[in-house]
Amino acid sequence: MKIKVLGSAAGGGFPQWNCNCKNCQAVRAGAPGYKARTQSSIAISDGSANWILVNASPDLLTQIKNTPELQPNRSPRDSGIAAVILMDAQIDHTTGLLMMRESKTPMRLYTTPAVWEDLTNGLPLVPTLGFYCGVQWTPLCTECDEPFSIAPLDTIRIKSIPLVSKAPPYSPNRYAQRVGDNIGLLIEDVSTGKTVFYAPGLGEITPNILPYMQAADVLMIDGTFWTEDEMITQGFSSKMAADMGHLPQTDKPGEKGSGMISQLRQFAHQRKVLIHINNTNPILYDHSDERAILADNGIEVSYDGMEIVA
Ligand code: MLT
Ligand code: MN
Ligand code: ZN
Repeated sequence: MKIKVLGSAAGGGFPQWNCNCKNCQAVRAGAPGYKARTQSSIAISDGSANWILVNASPDLLTQIKNTPELQPNRSPRDSGIAAVILMDAQIDHTTGLLMMRESKTPMRLYTTPAVWEDLTNGLPLVPTLGFYCGVQWTPLCTECDEPFSIAPLDTIRIKSIPLVSKAPPYSPNRYAQRVGDNIGLLIEDVSTGKTVFYAPGLGEITPNILPYMQAADVLMIDGTFWTEDEMITQGFSSKMAADMGHLPQTDKPGEKGSGMISQLRQFAHQRKVLIHINNTNPILYDHSDERAILADNGIEVSYDGMEIVA
């Protein structure tokens, strides 16, 4: 399989429109060692011209412009995007759906029932799209261990795995998480036998996801924050990383072993790639001490346009 990172930044992107933090200033000024990044999304293909879009970023049109494989190549109205899977109902993962409204056929959308409900009520993208292309929904099961495939990508098998993160701020479930508000994916290409675990929003490495992470060859995982209180110390928010459903890279004070770097040490054989990186995170500077710590731990930082073949 081939995975293209369409967007490697968290909500807001990099630089964020209204942010004057050190990183955003530097990338805006074109300083060396800083790359602009769009909001988080990947595309998966089986090696053919067909791709599954995983999350629909508000930056989708820019991402398609930067990715010839997704552009119309075969008929007067066409797209490399065969279907869309959503990890959650967050704005940075869903609002790009509106940019696909010109589709000539109903959009093929795979979400959990919990995400479908939020996109029907709190942020009514689904009923809105009903006035344009319409949506053909396939519910994602969060209890079954059976993989599904999405035609015509016949060699790709996907499992949806419920995990702990957060429903969006607009959701009635923000403070009362339901199973299916957030998922990760185990993506397998049966022709190569390789698997990728993808979880751009992950608040906790809970026992139920461990076997999937252990089985994977590649982990593409939440890279939002370096520290638990990053948004507070930089003066941008009163929220901890945990309040937003993200596990920071470093250990929480007094909780040795709690952070992502510590926890990823148990996955010695996996390629480890961070995605969904917030603009306040010091790892966005290629030559930072924090980036060197990641490298020492065998952890990569994704960038827009990155390709992973597995
Ligand atoms: C998050 O990942 O915490 C949210 O996407 C933030 C946002 O959309 O503003
Ligand atoms: Mn997000
Ligand atoms: Zn910033």
